[in-house]
Amino acid sequence: MKLVGLVGWRGMVGSVLMQRMQDEGDFDHIEPVFFTTSNAGGAAPKMAKNETTLKSAHDIAELSKCEIIISCQGGDYTSDIFPQLRASGWNGYWIDAASTLRMNDDAVIVLDPVNKDVIKNALSRGVKNYVGGNCTVSCMLMGLGGLFEQGLVEWMTSMTYQAASGGGAQHMRELLTQFGTINGAVKPLLDDPASAILEIDRTVLATQHGLTAEETKQFGVPLAGNLIPWIDKDLGNGQSKEEWKAGAETNKILGRGEGFGSSAIPVDGLCVRIGAMRCHSQALTIKMTKDVPLDEINDIIASHNQWVKVVPNTREASMRDLSPAAVTGSLTIPVGRLRKMSMGPDYLSAFTVGDQLLWGAAEPLRRMLRIVLD
Ligand code: HSE
Repeated sequence: MKLVGLVGWRGMVGSVLMQRMQDEGDFDHIEPVFFTTSNAGGAAPKMAKNETTLKSAHDIAELSKCEIIISCQGGDYTSDIFPQLRASGWNGYWIDAASTLRMNDDAVIVLDPVNKDVIKNALSRGVKNYVGGNCTVSCMLMGLGGLFEQGLVEWMTSMTYQAASGGGAQHMRELLTQFGTINGAVKPLLDDPASAILEIDRTVLATQHGLTAEETKQFGVPLAGNLIPWIDKDLGNGQSKEEWKAGAETNKILGRGEGFGSSAIPVDGLCVRIGAMRCHSQALTIKMTKDVPLDEINDIIASHNQWVKVVPNTREASMRDLSPAAVTGSLTIPVGRLRKMSMGPDYLSAFTVGDQLLWGAAEPLRRMLRIVLD
């Protein structure tokens, strides 16, 4: 069995990955080696077989023994360790959740239900670096892969509603702390049916403005009862890095190259952080390359992969099935609100939701492991 090094398995993405690997029996096919940045020599988790102690994640010699390494340790770790490993002559497979290497020419963004051909082609060329995509992009492509596969997308805008988890575990905690502080401030007023709603509203606003530095340490501003229309770095051209990723990564995943060259499909939009926990949602406007009847569009979307589910464009179904609360913890990618827009018959509206820790992070990595092992 192949020696597979696991780094960052205790963090949020890593924990979801470990759970999925156990659920799918992945550990039956590998000899795992668990690495740590803080507890070398400690006991490895129960999935360990022969290597029952934790190895140092900074020990290049130990890492080099692995034929495959999966890292959920984050970008700083990748930036530090990956070049050292390769410089040492290590030629194993590096499977990474961090974005550091994503756009490198010698790395493939993995989302096999969408780009298995790109992955297979890279494997046959000897490519050794496989990186999970941006969560919003991966979830969008799992939903709309059929339209891209059929060449039906001329361009697309993606307006996102991104959950706190995209920032990390601390961000999720901070969101809930903020909700709690706000609720606490108005609790007596809420409990009194005779209280004035505008007084409650004023108190909420004052509480949001009065949140302490500790309560806004991660987001910088209140997110509870609010939104933040900027995610990731400012690229200096009016676009956020998260927005840039939509176009760059979508096209790279589809094997269409980077940027907006002749074969690239323009994908752009506006990324917004909202107070959801771990599901990213997005409203999409798709300019189609031709007018396709809506029932055919439904079929094309629904038949692309086993996880996508078309939600009927009704109020009841949309409210029930097309929300973060409906999707969290599930691999299902619902796509709904499908309708032709008033701009014309080749303008399609859609809304999709995905668990950003599953298809958005952990799942493509473990599936890539299985592809390498096959
Ligand atoms: N950049 C994403 C977010 C995280 O902040 O929501 C996962 O790619």
